[in-house]
Amino acid sequence: MIQMIERLRLQARDEIALASDGGGLDAFRIKFLGRKGLIGQLFDSLKDLPADARPETGKLLNELRSYVQSLLDERKASLRPAENRAELDLTLPGRPALTGSLHPITKTLDEIKRIFTGMGFSIATGPEIEDDYHNFEALNFPPDHPARDMQDTFFITDKILLRTHTSPVQIRLMESGPPPVRAIMPGRVYRNEAISARSYCLFHQVEGLVVDTNVTFGDLTGTLVSFSQQFYGSSLKYRFRPSFFPFTEPSAEMDITCYLCNGKGCRVCKYTGWLEILGCGMVDPNVFTAVGYDPEKYTGYAFGMGVDRVAMLRYGIDDIRILFDNDVRFLSQF
Ligand code: PHE
Repeated sequence: MIQMIERLRLQARDEIALASDGGGLDAFRIKFLGRKGLIGQLFDSLKDLPADARPETGKLLNELRSYVQSLLDERKASLRPAENRAELDLTLPGRPALTGSLHPITKTLDEIKRIFTGMGFSIATGPEIEDDYHNFEALNFPPDHPARDMQDTFFITDKILLRTHTSPVQIRLMESGPPPVRAIMPGRVYRNEAISARSYCLFHQVEGLVVDTNVTFGDLTGTLVSFSQQFYGSSLKYRFRPSFFPFTEPSAEMDITCYLCNGKGCRVCKYTGWLEILGCGMVDPNVFTAVGYDPEKYTGYAFGMGVDRVAMLRYGIDDIRILFDNDVRFLSQF
């Protein structure tokens, strides 16, 4: 009897491997575990054993039955397709889908673009790795001119550099076709400055360029005032101060009343009541000559504004460096 039990154990172990679907598993179950199955028959023949051998043999038979049952269970589980194996509970709460948010710089840029496209400007872009010609020379910075020191440049080679402003895109745009031009050019710029809470080695600018016959300084101020009122609020006060850029003549800088202290004077406006928001001017005739536009026929204006400081003021960010850390704890607040 004990030998038969052992033989049955080996037989079950071999035959379970042959069951490859639901039908095979059923046949196996009936053959071994069914009421008239092989194990059942052995249980039936227990009564023919001498009384003192029955308890021991009964115990072995019970063990055989649970062993065969476990073979069957394991095989059943391994035959089920993987995706159905996990219990599917439709009442469990769903897993929240993580959605990103727009970077404060992207939001600020989007708003600036929205206002200018509303005023008929198109959007142009250019490379961040520039050559000396587009970044400086065509913009009327002669070689060795001290004006180049206004911008601390990252040079890659003698003549290749990271653009220090978006103004080279003006040149590329004018090289690509004749007037009229009416475009803004947003993008990243790089300067080799000491990194601090207020300045970083990279930041963003939006350049603007309008070229046509009879473009005047009045068009320049009108457009920039309209932009500023839409962006900062219609009640703002502004002023244009004379300034210098090699590629514009005359040149100016535009200030608006500090909207944090309403012009009373605070830390952000360095107690002047004014915030400088952009540089601008009428395109220098030398620039037109460099790109092959007739300076006798065309006039134009250009402007350039920083984006990062504006974004910081808008969103109450007091350290420019966190704009570039890409820390989700910071970014997810916007
Ligand atoms: N490129 C200038 C700067 O980075 C800004 C500017 C652009 C001034 C266009 C005038 C006209 O400081």
